[in-house]
Amino acid sequence: MEKLVFYGFNHQHIPPSFIIHPEKRPRKLDHPVVYHNTPIIDLKDCVDGALDRSATIQQIFKAIEEFGFFQLVNDGVHEELMEEAMEVSKEFFEMPVEDRLSLYREDPMHPVRVSSSIVYENEEVHYWRDKLRHLCHPVEEFKHLWPSKPTKYKEVIAAYSVKVRALALKLLELICEGLGLQPDYFNGELSQMQSILINHYPPSPDPSLTLGLPKHIDPNVITILLQGDSYGFQVLKDGEWIDVKPLPNTHLVVLGHQLQIISNEKLKGVEHRVVSTNVPRTTIAMQIHPSMDCVVEPAKEVIDEGNPAKYRSFTYQEFVDSYLTSVIDTQKSTKPFKILA
Ligand code: OGA
Ligand code: NI
Repeated sequence: MEKLVFYGFNHQHIPPSFIIHPEKRPRKLDHPVVYHNTPIIDLKDCVDGALDRSATIQQIFKAIEEFGFFQLVNDGVHEELMEEAMEVSKEFFEMPVEDRLSLYREDPMHPVRVSSSIVYENEEVHYWRDKLRHLCHPVEEFKHLWPSKPTKYKEVIAAYSVKVRALALKLLELICEGLGLQPDYFNGELSQMQSILINHYPPSPDPSLTLGLPKHIDPNVITILLQGDSYGFQVLKDGEWIDVKPLPNTHLVVLGHQLQIISNEKLKGVEHRVVSTNVPRTTIAMQIHPSMDCVVEPAKEVIDEGNPAKYRSFTYQEFVDSYLTSVIDTQKSTKPFKILA
């Protein structure tokens, strides 16, 4: 079996089904575009008190418009906690393969799942990534299902999940304020589901032939990514792929399809991908989703005659089904929900 998860760590050759079609191969690997002024937002004034929120809200909207993402400082999650979360995540993928096999699942909706690539069974080409994904809200409902090795995993990831959830909800509150929605618009079903996705990208024998993840927008509402210390994350800006510098213990925020839809495209999710490199890379993506049967639609407050709804209402389950069957192709997966002008 050529599923990456069964190979463990050292890949001497690239199985043919992991070689990316020549037209879709990453280029410019030797000379990637690096911007030195990508947006960094300081949440110091917003986390505890409610000082000058409007300046921060403006920064968020500007960052999303110009770059599609931003990085955070003083976001209320302690550096030690980020370090510990990254440590247990790396340890998980450094364990012998056998220790991960008991959690191997084909079902993409399983609450705790180790797998490879995206939806292995639906793909013509596979991506150079292993992953552990599990639900983490409410923590007590799912914690007993989480990996029991490394021994500190449950304790650290429980604390990290709670802290990052609070951060995500704070960001959503600021975004609501900017959109003219009630500050608690996302507090119920729209943020009910939370998953942690620990991505592990093994070193590639030839990074020009493989991809960690192809171009996509995340399906959920908002993603808070901890990208560790290795390069690989790229966003599409003005038709060009740019490298996002990994800053130590710094969260990176991208908006997902649901926020783009709810804001009726006042805010956009950014297309991003992960290129392979010759060093291992581990990342932690904390994703806030609606519950599966939650009805999603553009918020009434952001549509009017001059700005009619661009999407019909649908359940999140419908969206996820479409997303997974089209293997995260942005055009194909959103088409069934678009209202054409
Ligand atoms: C994702 C993603 C980026 C990374 O999991 O959706 O874009 O660097 N991850 O792992
Ligand atoms: Ni993503």
